[in-house]
Amino acid sequence: MSTKEKQDQLVEILRSWQHVENKSVAQAADIIDRSPNPVIRMIMEIIQRDSAFHFRVEQFIIDSIEKQAVTLTPDDLAQVWGAIEAHIEAERRTGELVAGAEKALAGTRNVVQHFLISYLAHDEKKHDQLLEDLGSIKRGMYKSA
Ligand SMILES: [Fe+2]
Repeated sequence: MSTKEKQDQLVEILRSWQHVENKSVAQAADIIDRSPNPVIRMIMEIIQRDSAFHFRVEQFIIDSIEKQAVTLTPDDLAQVWGAIEAHIEAERRTGELVAGAEKALAGTRNVVQHFLISYLAHDEKKHDQLLEDLGSIKRGMYKSA
């Protein structure tokens, strides 16, 4: 397959993906309407926001193919790396807080607290991973397939 064909295929996949995001937003809204439970409502709101943002990211990739190519170079990152490092430090602190919260919850049976701390822990890890990947790009060592 040519590069052009592969890029066309990627756009097609991303458009299907956006349909799923839209559906997910609507389904979450429906669940929010049906449930008075604040935990369920909050989780559905999180999913709604994430899906809406995923839609934007998918559109960004589509635009980078159809409208204007986008680059991210080690220089782009070097320019703001001091500030990014401060942010990495803040994320490290949340890691400690997550560990503290998990320790404080150990042996307790509050399902809601366990569930929500687990959500936060995963989300903070996700941020770590994003920043780690930016670090690899900065070092020119990012693995591209
Ligand atoms: Fe998504």
